[in-house]
Amino acid sequence: MRITSLSHTALTILLILAIEACKESKPSVENSHPEGEKLARSYCASCHAFPDPALLDKKTWETGVLPVMAELMKPGTSGLAGQDSGIYGQQATPTEPISPAQWAQIVQYYTSNAPEILEPAKDSLEPVLVGMPQFKAFPFYGRFSSPVTTLVYVDTTTRKIYFGDGNAGKVFVTISAFTFTDSFITNPGATDIHPVKSTAVVSIGFIAPSFLPLGRLETLTGKRDPVPIISNLRKPLQAVYTGLNQDGRKDIIIAEFG
Ligand code: HEC
Repeated sequence: MRITSLSHTALTILLILAIEACKESKPSVENSHPEGEKLARSYCASCHAFPDPALLDKKTWETGVLPVMAELMKPGTSGLAGQDSGIYGQQATPTEPISPAQWAQIVQYYTSNAPEILEPAKDSLEPVLVGMPQFKAFPFYGRFSSPVTTLVYVDTTTRKIYFGDGNAGKVFVTISAFTFTDSFITNPGATDIHPVKSTAVVSIGFIAPSFLPLGRLETLTGKRDPVPIISNLRKPLQAVYTGLNQDGRKDIIIAEFG
């Protein structure tokens, strides 16, 4: 009897695991719009991971997320696909602009496969505590109406802190007491800085979602325009200076996003 009930339990667990595994690979119950799914997997996944319809309820897709994504994708216009691919030649994103009919198929796919009401998440994690007793927060960015911080770099040697702001198109330098001492004009959206002999900055050029190759590695010249070292980069995030080929000169490795 005992063995039977044990094997029964094991079978139940196996069944649950099998069901869970199925859920993993196919979260939506049944896709009623395969063409819409194909389009979503191609277009939506060109900017971020493909989101399954089951993640949100129908109304949120319809009135919350999809209108915002439509704005980013601009159906019927050249949208992402029409953007210049710069030094890359070929894009990993769909080459055809999305048509209003294709957009309607994507909307259909999300709205008809999403649940009416989302099950509340079964949260077994400890709640996140707000506040760190060792630190005291104080506002620092009072000088811009809408700051977009793209870089914070702490130079422990000179005890300076560098802030890049995407809207201002500048890098601000502070001393450790958090007062600005200096600022440099940069290509908008500084993401990395090398404050060596002549300060070099990596910047993305345009902070809205885009594949435009407006990124640069440039050297700062104080108040005058920065001097580009490499242009036409696509969302560059970091530069590393190192010797790769033993020619005694530094090579630059640049990482791009996406
Ligand atoms: C042009 C790039 C781009 C494309 C294409 C795109 N998205 Fe997004 N998506 C974004 C960005 C950027 C955000 C973050 C927006 C924000 O936080 O304000 C985002 C956020 C989201 C979110 C999270 C929303 C939230 O409130 O947190 C969902 C869900 C989403 N996208 C779904 C989609 C779907 C579905 C598609 C295809 C129909 C799509 N996205 C296509 C750029 C894109």
